[in-house]
Amino acid sequence: MGKHAGEIDRQAALARVIAITNDKGGVGKTSIVANLGGQLAAAGYRVLLVDLNRQANLADDLGIRRTEVDDQGEGLLSSIVLEGRQPLAVAVEVRPDLDLVCGGTRLEALTPLMVSKTMGAGASGESPFLALADVLSPIAEHYDVILIDCPPENYVLTDLALGAARWVIMPTKTDIGGLVGMTLVAERFTKARTINPNLGLLGAVLFATGTKATAIHTEARSAIEAAFGGHSPLFTTVVRHAERTAQDARRLGKLAHELEVEAAQQPAWWESLRKGGGARRLSSTAASVAADYRNLAFEVLNVLRSMEEAALAVTVGSVG
Ligand SMILES: Nc1ncnc2c1ncn2[C@@H]1O[C@H](COP(=O)(O)OP(=O)(O)OP(=O)(O)O)[C@@H](O)[C@H]1O
Ligand SMILES: [Mg+2]
Repeated sequence: MGKHAGEIDRQAALARVIAITNDKGGVGKTSIVANLGGQLAAAGYRVLLVDLNRQANLADDLGIRRTEVDDQGEGLLSSIVLEGRQPLAVAVEVRPDLDLVCGGTRLEALTPLMVSKTMGAGASGESPFLALADVLSPIAEHYDVILIDCPPENYVLTDLALGAARWVIMPTKTDIGGLVGMTLVAERFTKARTINPNLGLLGAVLFATGTKATAIHTEARSAIEAAFGGHSPLFTTVVRHAERTAQDARRLGKLAHELEVEAAQQPAWWESLRKGGGARRLSSTAASVAADYRNLAFEVLNVLRSMEEAALAVTVGSVG
C-alpha cells in the first residue's frame, strides 16, 4: 500500500534525527549528545539537541542550568501534550549553530500522561508513539542534525524518541551492566520498527574505556553482535576514560573541545606554582577527549552518508 503524503513529509523532515539511547544509566548518552552536537555545530552544521531527561544533565554540560533560558522541560511538555500537538518552537540557542530543547523536572508529568494517552489511543486519532515526531517535524528543516538525549530506564520516553528518530546511536560501557542495557535497547528497537520501520541502527560507541583495552573491546564487540543478530555496528572510535576532564566539563558547563582551548591558554604550571597555587588547573587530557569526540563526529557523518546512499540506491532500484 502507498504511503500517506503526510507520512512521507514527516519521514523526509526527520531524516537526520538521531536518538542516543541505552536503558542503562551512566553510559555516556548525555556526554555524547553534548559533545557530538557541540563539535558538529562548531564545524558549521546547524544542530538541535532535545533533552528528554528530568535530571537534565545536558543543561549542566552546556552551562545553562538555572539561567533564564532553562525552562525545565515546560516547553517540550506543553508542545507534546497540547491538543493538536504544537510545533516545538521552544529551542534556545546555547552556542552558535547549536540549539537546545531543555529537559528538566517538568518532564516528570510526561511519562504518566503518555501512558494514559497510550491506553486511550485511537480516541483522538493521534498515535502517542509519534507525539515527538509530530512536534519535531515542522521545525526539523532548520537543522542538519537533531540529537535526542534519551533517559535511562524509561520505556515510555525512549519510545517517543524512537518514534521520531531515523537513526539510533547506542553508547555502552564495556562492563556487563552496560551490555545488558544494550540487549534491552536492541529488543526495544525491534519493537519500535513495527511502528517506525524507517528506524535504523547507526552504531554503538564504547564509552569511558581504555584506549588500548583491545581484548575487552573485542569481547564487547561480540556481545553487541549477539544482541543485534550477528551484525556488528560498533564504531571504531571509543571515548576514553577521563574522569577529571568529565568532572571539569560538567562543573564548568564546558564541552571537551572548549576545555581543550582553555587548558592550552592557562599559565604554565610553574607560574601557577610560583604564585602559590590559585585556581584548580584544567587537565590537559581534555584535548585527547575532544579528539575522541571529533573522531566520533567524523565516523558518524561517514556512516550516515554511506547509509543514506545505500537507502537511496534501494529506493532508486525499486522505482527503476
Ligand atoms: N570520558 C569519560 N570518562 C569517565 N567518566 C566520564 C567521561 N565522560 C563523562 N563521564 C562521567 O560519566 C557519568 C555518566 O555520563 P553521562 O551523564 O554522559 O551518562 P548518561 O548515560 O547520560 O547517564 P544517565 O543515564 O544518568 O542520563 C557522568 O558522571 C560523567 O561526568
Ligand atoms: Mg544522561
